[in-house]
Amino acid sequence: MNDFVWGAATAAYQIEGAAREDGRVPSIWDTYSHTPGLVLNGDTGDVAADHYHRWPEDIGIMRELGLGAYRFSISWPRVYDQRGIDFYSRLVDALLEQGIKPVATLYHWDLPQELEDAGGWTARDTAYRFAEYAERIGAALGDRVHLWTTFNEPWCSAFLGYGSGVHAPGRTDPVAALTAAHHLNLAHGLAARALPGPVSVTLNLHHVRGDDADAVRQVDAVANRVFLGPMLEGAYPADLLEDTRGITDWSFVQDGDEATCQAPLEMLEVNYYAPTLVRRWDGVSPRATADGHGNSTASPWVGCDDIEFLQQPGPYTAMGWPIDATGLTELLLRLHREYPGVPLVITENGAAFDDRVDPDGRVRDQRRIEYLRDHLSAVERARDEGADVRGYFVWSLLDNFEWAYGYSKRFGIVHVDYATQKRTWKDSAHWYQDVVARFPQGP
Ligand code: NOJ
Repeated sequence: MNDFVWGAATAAYQIEGAAREDGRVPSIWDTYSHTPGLVLNGDTGDVAADHYHRWPEDIGIMRELGLGAYRFSISWPRVYDQRGIDFYSRLVDALLEQGIKPVATLYHWDLPQELEDAGGWTARDTAYRFAEYAERIGAALGDRVHLWTTFNEPWCSAFLGYGSGVHAPGRTDPVAALTAAHHLNLAHGLAARALPGPVSVTLNLHHVRGDDADAVRQVDAVANRVFLGPMLEGAYPADLLEDTRGITDWSFVQDGDEATCQAPLEMLEVNYYAPTLVRRWDGVSPRATADGHGNSTASPWVGCDDIEFLQQPGPYTAMGWPIDATGLTELLLRLHREYPGVPLVITENGAAFDDRVDPDGRVRDQRRIEYLRDHLSAVERARDEGADVRGYFVWSLLDNFEWAYGYSKRFGIVHVDYATQKRTWKDSAHWYQDVVARFPQGP
């Protein structure tokens, strides 16, 4: 794999902690996690992996791993204060000193609470506020950032945040979910124009399978094409508008918006964990809802009340997600076919397992190694068949706050003991270090 970048990814709320330091204002995830009953064990991101204070040590780990790039996110509520901007400025400089390319995401789900109080992503004004924020950070960090990402997984922000409510802000309103999706698309296009350098967006594209082609099409529309359409083609798919006509007339889309959503992308960033299996529900038997997105009674799948999400064969990760790397090859080849001029990069891939530090100090996470190895082979297969895949970021560098699951799910290749904040390389980190060393990285 020549000319390929190896990286690791994290996100601000999941690792930084320091929730009330240096002028950081509350975000929707502070509010959500501090609301009893919403996050497992009452966990919050108040301290997390304390990266806000331990970042020099964490950059040391990246250097030892041999990473060519580091994908992190900027906390919008933190950069209300200049001290927050200074933190990211120091981080970026330190990465560059180690020869690690900074890949910065502007929004990994931590909307300032004051904007949610004004309607959050259901309010059009939030898109303009986001573009102002992008311009401000773009000016502060400028060309030191190698690649800018507007949004991480806007599907989750819209459909888990406003649809099923298993993510902040915890609303369960299908119209709000579609409205939020549009304002995220609009904000992406506005921010892309306000940023100083190469721009991308990270989508959690679902690889949807099933025997019923029309059921697959329907889920694909509300899972993938609701973002791919406006962002890459400047238009919402006609079938999506048709399928959701009983829910909304989409009057929140104003003249000219769809063209604004589309902006030239340096590459398309793809997060992949597992495929999705669907079929049309017969309306009689109990409806299967194994979509891997939590246990809310409200569905994130707006307009898909007649669709079943089927349990797939194991093995499974600790999230209960099936392990199936073939979906990644198929997804990459599809994107290559549909958007041939757009290079691809895997910005997240990884697995949670119930890791523990053995008495001899080792973390024997053989299953994570196998998961990563299988998925890297899947990327290689896609490249062999022509897909232009430029890099791979493992999720995650460190164990961290896994949203509604709190600290119960460990995705890191480096173990974090939350009582002491001690970092311990898992076997998978040593394995990844070898992989990175074996394959030369591109410029
Ligand atoms: C996607 C998200 O971007 C990240 O924040 C999350 O921790 C991982 N997937 C694992 O669920």
